[in-house]
Amino acid sequence: MLGLKANTPNEWAQIVLKDMESFLTDHAYNEIKAAQSAIAVINHKPNHQLFVNTMSALAIEEMQHFESVYEHIQKLGLKLGQESQNDYAMQLRKFFPKTKDPKQKLIQKLLLSSLMEARSCERFSVLIPVLNNQYPDLATFYKELFESEARHYRVFLEFARQFDEVETVNRQWQALLSYEAELIKGLDHKALVHG
Ligand SMILES: [Fe+2]
Ligand SMILES: [Fe+2]
Repeated sequence: MLGLKANTPNEWAQIVLKDMESFLTDHAYNEIKAAQSAIAVINHKPNHQLFVNTMSALAIEEMQHFESVYEHIQKLGLKLGQESQNDYAMQLRKFFPKTKDPKQKLIQKLLLSSLMEARSCERFSVLIPVLNNQYPDLATFYKELFESEARHYRVFLEFARQFDEVETVNRQWQALLSYEAELIKGLDHKALVHG
């Protein structure tokens, strides 16, 4: 799905179901981080009108997602907890060698964002059937989010392909997907979006 090279096992969804508060808290902070990432790349291409407009709109959309997750937390009588460490994102960032080249820096950020969007989508698709009975409103919400995050996945990847040689970007993308698949297989599953 979405080019990913490893699938999330259903047992992950069962872990989430047992600790919705931790999961929704993690999801809420992920939306804030997604907004921050979109804002952070604007500075890399300030003269590219379409890029600036797209990233600005995307950041606003991610904060709207945060608001929706927070509303669901409140409706369920749960609490927004503290942000937990995102081991997945930390490990993922280690894939790319450190670079001072501004173009490479941007490509790396765009590919990492694209991949995190794709993995979020895949996770939501695993979660939706499990939520249907007990949390029908949440299941509907995650179906909508799936569409939105799948669009973001494509937006980041397409911009990366525009800003460098397509073949080079595609090679980096495939290598990143392989690395991420191994990372996902080795995760100790937790009630986190990327855990
Ligand atoms: Fe989002
Ligand atoms: Fe997104």
